[in-house]
Amino acid sequence: MLSTHARPAASIFMNMTLRARLTVGILAIAVVLVMPMVSALHALGALTPASLDRYAIAEIIGAFLLAAAIAVWLTRSVSRPMRDLEAGMRAVAGGEFGHRLAVAPQRRDEFGRLAASFATMADRLAELDKLKAEFVSIASHELKTPINVMLGYLQLLQEGVYGPLSDRQLEVCRTLQQQCQAVGRLSKQLLDVSRFEAGGGQLDLHRFALGPFLDELEESVQVLAVQRGVHFTVLRDERLPVEVRWDRDGINEVLGNILSNAFRFTPSGGRVELAAHADEVEVRLYVRDTGSGILPEQLGHVFDKFYQARNQTGTVGTVGKGMGLGLAIAKSIVEAHRGTISVDSTPGEGTVFSIRLPPVVPPL
Ligand SMILES: Nc1ncnc2c1ncn2[C@@H]1O[C@H](COP(=O)(O)OP(=O)(O)O)[C@@H](O)[C@H]1O
Ligand SMILES: [Mg+2]
Repeated sequence: MLSTHARPAASIFMNMTLRARLTVGILAIAVVLVMPMVSALHALGALTPASLDRYAIAEIIGAFLLAAAIAVWLTRSVSRPMRDLEAGMRAVAGGEFGHRLAVAPQRRDEFGRLAASFATMADRLAELDKLKAEFVSIASHELKTPINVMLGYLQLLQEGVYGPLSDRQLEVCRTLQQQCQAVGRLSKQLLDVSRFEAGGGQLDLHRFALGPFLDELEESVQVLAVQRGVHFTVLRDERLPVEVRWDRDGINEVLGNILSNAFRFTPSGGRVELAAHADEVEVRLYVRDTGSGILPEQLGHVFDKFYQARNQTGTVGTVGKGMGLGLAIAKSIVEAHRGTISVDSTPGEGTVFSIRLPPVVPPL
């Protein structure tokens, strides 16, 4: 058992960086070696103040300098690979499986072996991640057919093709239909996110006219706005390029996801706006709403897969309600275009999503 005095000292030692520990240790060894030498000389009477000659002082200083040099060399040789490994671990934890360490796996010491194990681990994780995405992609694709079959038969039942239904039976059909649609939506989102990941984020890039694209989007969203009693406007900057080179369906999906969130979190009487601006280098798209907003501590997570902020109560209807994948999909699509997406929000006032995209995305 450690004494009560030893405990804080031990905890200070445990909290020191590796570099500090090695330095303190080596200096302590230097002191332990030099001190008996000094006291022996002193006992022999060779080290009286009068006889304390230059050589003795030079020897003591020399011993400390040598110890300091060894300390620096040793700590560097250990702390550099450690820092490299730490950065590598952080990268892998963040999903960057392609990260490689600066320490060569061919090195014959412990760090070389560690680097080799790290590379194997990262490769295995990347493989598993791809397999997982492929599995989810296939599974959700396979779900599509049975869901469509069920929806089709429910439709026929409701239309009375198989004989007249009572009011109660029609109500059950409607509930079944809604549930089937919800499962269909979820499997579509899962399919989108996994297909994108399994395919390494491939885009179908081609040139198209931006004006008609925004017109079409406005028209389809206006229906939702009217249903919700939310005022919806699209603002267009004069400097918008006539043509862009994007994955049309991909960007349509990004805006669709963000706009459907905006409508879900904005009560009737509120406003949702899509503003498109541009300069020589980029097109900027902003989706602003006057909805519930997102708490600052949750804002950093909204692009994470399966994340839903604690603001779901009071949302309007279930249209667009998913399982926290919409923004994760949006982010991967925007980043595959070499663009950025960010969010800003004030609880109780509203939220702004900002997307920046190069007008012409070069071939990948
Ligand atoms: N415009 C918005 N206003 C308030 N909260 C939002 C808005 N957009 C997104 N969020 C929050 O971010 C979460 C994640 O959004 P998303 O990835 O689209 O998932 P989902 O729509 O399936 O919940 C939402 O659940 C919600 O909490
Ligand atoms: Mg959503």
